[in-house]
Amino acid sequence: QVADVATLEPAMLPAADAPGLVVCNPPYDARLAADPALYRALGDALKRAVPDWRASLLCGDAELARATGLRAAKVYPVFNGAIECALIAVDPIRPAARADEGPRELNEGATMVANRLRKNLRKLKAWRRQGGIDCFRVYDADLPEYAAAIDVYIAADDRDAAPRTFLHVQEYAAPASIPEADQRRRRNELLAAAREVFAVPREQLAIKTRARGKGGSKYGAFDQRGEFVEVREGAARLRVNLFDYLDTGLFLDHRPMRQRLHDEARGKRFLNLFGYTGAATVQAAVGGAAATTTVDLSATYLQWCADNLAANRIGGRDHALVQADVMAWLAADRGRYELVFCDPPTFSNSKRADDFDVQARHVELLRLAIARLAPDGVLYFSNNFRRFRLDEAAVAAFAECEEISASTIPPDFERNPRIHRCWRLRPRQPD
Ligand SMILES: C[S@@+](CC[C@H](N)C(=O)[O-])C[C@H]1O[C@@H](n2cnc3c(N)ncnc32)[C@H](O)[C@@H]1O
Repeated sequence: QVADVATLEPAMLPAADAPGLVVCNPPYDARLAADPALYRALGDALKRAVPDWRASLLCGDAELARATGLRAAKVYPVFNGAIECALIAVDPIRPAARADEGPRELNEGATMVANRLRKNLRKLKAWRRQGGIDCFRVYDADLPEYAAAIDVYIAADDRDAAPRTFLHVQEYAAPASIPEADQRRRRNELLAAAREVFAVPREQLAIKTRARGKGGSKYGAFDQRGEFVEVREGAARLRVNLFDYLDTGLFLDHRPMRQRLHDEARGKRFLNLFGYTGAATVQAAVGGAAATTTVDLSATYLQWCADNLAANRIGGRDHALVQADVMAWLAADRGRYELVFCDPPTFSNSKRADDFDVQARHVELLRLAIARLAPDGVLYFSNNFRRFRLDEAAVAAFAECEEISASTIPPDFERNPRIHRCWRLRPRQPD
């Protein structure tokens, strides 16, 4: 039939009330024009005409897939020739009405959490408005029995649609003395409170739950949605993945540090060591860095960094992404940098590098990194190992060093001021 997809109705289908499957290959925006409005019209038409069917849609990309407004049970990144697409499986088209969907009375515990969340939101309001802060920590085990961190991410990726609020909830390990049933009840109360206060649908709530298993407590299995959303941080846009990993790709506690890099980067060569998803690189580049170099062992994170740069229309030869062991790379590199950010993990072991232990190797790491600084260069060193002790005497031999943690912990992490520590280092000037 020749028809506009938006006009689809049951009467056009031979057996709309029998079970069915919609397969569809809409335009991708690569060869044919497509925009989120078309995808939204497709999603709306399917919900109206065949709500009980399943659908398998080969969409141009994950963002267009999301514009359908359909709830994808699975998203498969696939290539149609050279075009990267997202194949989404929707089953059923009408999201099942859930018992927990409507407004519900919160019980006493959940009410307590909800009140705390509202209080925290009030406290952060002026700071958020002033700084245009879209992603922030709103709760950090403020009530010790409700032991989780809740972070808010406001996604502004679909420029035509209203921003969407996501919540990222990370449960902390409960003392072994607390029975599982109590932990579960409290978790449900916390989640009910969070959903009530922020009015988020279930699919915009990412929960990293601790599962007790052999060998102690660890996080349970993660989703594999492959769903990235774009958030704003100052003048930059950053891609985060709220569902598939323990971390989202953006460490919120480092926001002021990234702001400082942004503000100091103009005209400088910037080096990001252990670059992760490159949020600091993006901020330095957006702040006008002449060039950036990002070093990380992981190809996955470097690709994420490339995507982050691309989301800000940054790329090309001046923005190098290097897959290497930082220690070996620093020893071999001959470049000079005016601004360096070094945020190593506490420990890492990988087939591709010697084991890294920040406590054991930080002096060696800092000596190598300081050696790469231009004469007026500055190195920011950060890490989040709770028991870390900087070997000040050893570092004093080659650098002037000042701890700046008081100015790099943002108001939303006040409850946890030791989330990271930061130092500012400069090469020791000849006497
Ligand atoms: C950003 S750091 C960790 C940040 C934060 N301080 C923490 O501990 O969670 C983690 C990054 O270091 C990278 N990494 C770990 N060992 C490395 C090594 N020897 N050389 C280069 N990158 C490494 C990882 O791939 C990851 O992207």
